[in-house]
Amino acid sequence: MKKIILDLDTGIDDTLAIAYALGSGEAELIGITGTYGNVTVDQGVRNALAVTDLFGHPEIPVYRGVDHPLAKDTFTVSAGSAFIHGKNGIGEIDIPDSTREPESEPAVDFIIDAAKTYGKELTYVPTGAFTNIATALQRAPEIRNLLGDIVLMGGALTVPGNVNAWTEANISQDPEAADFLFRSGTRTKMIGLDVTMQTLLTRRQTQQWRDLGTPAGAFLADMTDYYITAYETTAPGLGGCGLHDPLAVAAAIDPTIVATLPINLKVELDGPTRGRTIGDYDRLGDPFKTTSVAVAVNVSRFLDDFMARVTSVAAG
Ligand code: BDR
Ligand code: CA
Repeated sequence: MKKIILDLDTGIDDTLAIAYALGSGEAELIGITGTYGNVTVDQGVRNALAVTDLFGHPEIPVYRGVDHPLAKDTFTVSAGSAFIHGKNGIGEIDIPDSTREPESEPAVDFIIDAAKTYGKELTYVPTGAFTNIATALQRAPEIRNLLGDIVLMGGALTVPGNVNAWTEANISQDPEAADFLFRSGTRTKMIGLDVTMQTLLTRRQTQQWRDLGTPAGAFLADMTDYYITAYETTAPGLGGCGLHDPLAVAAAIDPTIVATLPINLKVELDGPTRGRTIGDYDRLGDPFKTTSVAVAVNVSRFLDDFMARVTSVAAG
């Protein structure tokens, strides 16, 4: 069976990605590694432990990752992230803290060990800053050829980003790590903002979780409504929220849910366009393309599938 590691800055859509993965019987979630972005690493780890408990899966191990970008010593949550995900990352909803602790093994060590243990069976899905995988590849370059798929949520091939006109949030957290990953020769699949914003979840769907009358259903509905409200405030008339991180998990489990284009990418590191994902001029003509970029998604199939899987977890 496919083994999956989710590398999350556990905010709202990351939590939906956890629920999606737990509702997917054809893949085994072998661990969650914590990164930063929507929240700090510590808050994200706390959220991942609490929500896996609430979803009835206290067996999922959670690992603490690197807590700051490659080129900086510290990380601070932006006002924009706190607005979109709430200060606690899960829409200001209070759920009981887990009595579990994160694993003592650091996330980067776990990723390296898992790549060596599971090889091509392992799919790694990063949906926050890419510092953990960049650090793992720098420390153990041999895992590049061992690992199965890396299906990341981040960047955009076409439309503007969500941090500024050029930049998507996950890339912006650690542009050096993202650029290293794209130019390291490691095969990646990029699920960018221009595709995830086509997958909108509405209040009509969150109400279905509330109607289940379960603690997990109420939590998922209230948390996701907070996210929808934030999206509607920044983009009036949108009517829903983008399912960024769950779409990356879906593409990891069923690659046919997206259509992709092979391209060699890099990340701009200087000037006002810092953080922009763009074709790598130096490798434009290289017949070996390391990244497959999603350019289309089967929206109705994904949304039906998303609702079925997450509802099965919400039902308890
Ligand atoms: C991405 O940034 C984070 O805010 C979300 O969790 C998602 O991973 C969207 O740009
Ligand atoms: Ca995320």
